[in-house]
Amino acid sequence: LYDFYDELRNADDLFWDRHLDAWIATGYAVVSSAAGNPGLSSVRYPDIEAVSEELRPLARVLSRQMLYSDAPDHPRQRALISRAFTPRALAALRARIVEAVDQIITHAAPTGRMDIVADLARPLPLTIICDLLDVPQQDRPALAAWSEPIAEAIGNSRLDADGNRAASQSMADMLAYLRELLTRHDAPPTPHTLRALVTAQAEKSDQDFDELLANCALLLIAGHETTTHFIGNATLALLRHPHAADQLRRRPDLMPAAVEELLRYDAPVQLMLRRARQDLDLAGRTIAEGQTVLLVCGAANRDPAVFPEPHVLDFGRAGGRHMSFGNGPHFCLGAALARLEGAIALEALLTRLPGLRLDGPTPQWQRSLNFRGLTRLDVAFTP
Ligand code: HEM
Repeated sequence: LYDFYDELRNADDLFWDRHLDAWIATGYAVVSSAAGNPGLSSVRYPDIEAVSEELRPLARVLSRQMLYSDAPDHPRQRALISRAFTPRALAALRARIVEAVDQIITHAAPTGRMDIVADLARPLPLTIICDLLDVPQQDRPALAAWSEPIAEAIGNSRLDADGNRAASQSMADMLAYLRELLTRHDAPPTPHTLRALVTAQAEKSDQDFDELLANCALLLIAGHETTTHFIGNATLALLRHPHAADQLRRRPDLMPAAVEELLRYDAPVQLMLRRARQDLDLAGRTIAEGQTVLLVCGAANRDPAVFPEPHVLDFGRAGGRHMSFGNGPHFCLGAALARLEGAIALEALLTRLPGLRLDGPTPQWQRSLNFRGLTRLDVAFTP
């Protein structure tokens, strides 16, 4: 993948691809500036009626999410949800992450084997996002099951009609569930959770309840699949670079730098999508109104103009902020939470499972245009 990105970037950092019917940006400078360019819209489905019948119900919901909105809707939506991500809320979540990771590792330690994806990378982010939303334990597997077909439809623009229909149905089920959860009166919400925030907001204001629900669904999907991929990709990178893993065992103070470098090295989200609001100039090229621009974060992260020797995993890199959380007004709202989950999970893997090594078949990547993550990651260690 990264050789392919190099070829594209060496040919041109921004070019028109007639197969994808879109501009492709691979250079760091173009990707980082375009992500926050007000001339480029984040609205994903400008004409809902043009969307296939099977995908349309899903597209209607996505259109109400902050990720696919522009100002003035976007900052209004973001302001409310970001109140669930204050330093105080994160401090409370930290204790939960430590507890959840401890449970998983304690359970696996005597066995000597683990599938990092199924046993750690999938359940951890789901547990945390469900805690944030105050979802009862017994309902969590259903949320996980709904989120998968939706992520697949978002990540694969060529999904067949059945796949799109399944994604639309899953979104309808998820919203129906969230509506019931957030209006339930029998069990009051745990204070300071997102559920408490949303319930209070829904009762007192005229803010569109459907819009709130759509953004809660966004958190479930954005906060779940991406972090799963991050933990899987980062673990694989460490296992393939034993010196880097040893360095981190000896110097736990390097963890924050390691998390950023691992995010740069193998970004869980490879693409961001924008659409030109009007004719505009981007890095000397004219983008016509309505044209799509795909910003390839994964390629920007390996641009040698910003990251010398970009294919080397190096926790001592100076400068250059990766594009894995995007840039500009849509910069990932859950970045601090994702970093925290990654750091706690990686630290536990490195320090509590002696002799941790790859074991089993070569890890396979999921088929997706914009998500990069493993289907499974088998490891062994000394029980
Ligand atoms: C936005 C990546 C984890 C919630 C974004 C964007 C990226 C991204 C690239 C910007 C998309 C764009 O500009 O088009 C990631 C990665 C994660 C991660 C790589 C894990 C390593 C999370 C978590 C949450 C979350 C844990 C929430 C619990 C969001 C939300 C937005 C967003 C709500 C939309 C923000 C807006 O539109 O203003 N994420 N994300 N993300 N992310 Fe994340």
